[in-house]
Amino acid sequence: MTIRFLLILGGIVSVSLFLTECKSSSGSVSLYPTIEHPADNPSSEAKIELGRKLFFDTRLSKGDAIACVSCHRPDFAFTDRIPLSQGVEGRHTERNSPSVLNAGYLPTVMFDAHIETLEKQAIVPIQEHVEMDMDMKTLLNKLRAIPEYSEAAREIFDRDFDAWVLTRSISAFQRSLISLNSRFDQYYYQNEKSALTDSEKRGWKLFSKELYCTECHAPPMFTNYEPINNGLYSDYGKDKGRFRIHNDSTDIGKFKVPSLRNIDLTHPYMHDGSVRTLEDVIAHYSKGGNPHKNKDERIVPFSISDDEQTDLIHFFEALTDTSYMKDFR
Ligand code: HEC
Ligand code: HEC
Repeated sequence: MTIRFLLILGGIVSVSLFLTECKSSSGSVSLYPTIEHPADNPSSEAKIELGRKLFFDTRLSKGDAIACVSCHRPDFAFTDRIPLSQGVEGRHTERNSPSVLNAGYLPTVMFDAHIETLEKQAIVPIQEHVEMDMDMKTLLNKLRAIPEYSEAAREIFDRDFDAWVLTRSISAFQRSLISLNSRFDQYYYQNEKSALTDSEKRGWKLFSKELYCTECHAPPMFTNYEPINNGLYSDYGKDKGRFRIHNDSTDIGKFKVPSLRNIDLTHPYMHDGSVRTLEDVIAHYSKGGNPHKNKDERIVPFSISDDEQTDLIHFFEALTDTSYMKDFR
């Protein structure tokens, strides 16, 4: 069945897409959500380009050592492949860097799901002691003195280079990072039946039907974006997750559910990078996680065969889409 969908993007541009509904095993197909550009930050090619330069620029950090891209690398699906990210002077963060691909779809930002917009988030790593450790005033004076940046600020925003220009352009760049064309997408949303191997199809069935994974990691984004305790620890130690925002004990161990898109590229896993491989992730869930009073009750033990485990991992591999890399070669 062919359906025509009219998407109004940003209230300005009308784009019509023809999608073929595929008879997926789940019987229904949900569409990709649309990216909401904030009213005060409409996107443009020039703004994205300025944001891209800033994202890659080590001059945003103390000692010109670290850029956003140091911890969010394109070749690793915008993560850094180390358990705890490393900032200036070898300092370590407490957490594993999440992908910023598809960041434009995030209803809230950070593992604690507490920052509303990318614009508000962008200044956090810049000022954070263990990340880029820059004082905003010093940084803005430094960037203003770079003709390329001050000219772009004038042309795009009609103002001097300031925090507004910095946060708006970096966010516009991040909203341009889309990765939604994995082989799973081709199979599920574009009706290309041969896009997945039989093993990957069996893995998808296991993931979505026989286990309970889609309760929290459902397509299209493979996350419900909710802060949840998945039983990673019985004692969360120093990093109690969302608890640190409101000091509410029912929030201990709650972290925003991560998307599983490009999951094969973004190891190690979980908020602290403590789970090394996808096999280790499956072992965590199959034992039902660790006991914790806030652990979500949907996480219960299960047992699967070695072949089923292989199918599940093949399915994860089918969630890889590196077509965004064409912009970074
Ligand atoms: C030193 C490594 C490091 C640097 C540098 C860094 N980040 Fe991050 N980033 C992280 C870590 C770790 C997190 C997770 C923090 C948390 O959730 O508490 C994160 C989280 C994010 C998120 C939230 C993603 C989500 O799923 O909620 C965004 C967006 C982001 N960073 C963008 C940026 C931008 C823009 C810059 C540059 C201005 C930057 N980062 C610099 C390590 C880094
Ligand atoms: C009740 C919600 C829930 C269910 C059900 C669930 N997860 Fe998760 N998942 C989470 C949360 C929350 C995290 C992040 C925890 C953290 O960072 O400490 C996570 C993290 C992951 C990660 C690591 C992602 C990353 O980027 O670090 C993988 C892989 C994963 N889950 C796979 C699965 C699989 C496979 C299943 C089914 C067996 C499953 N999940 C079921 C909530 C859930």
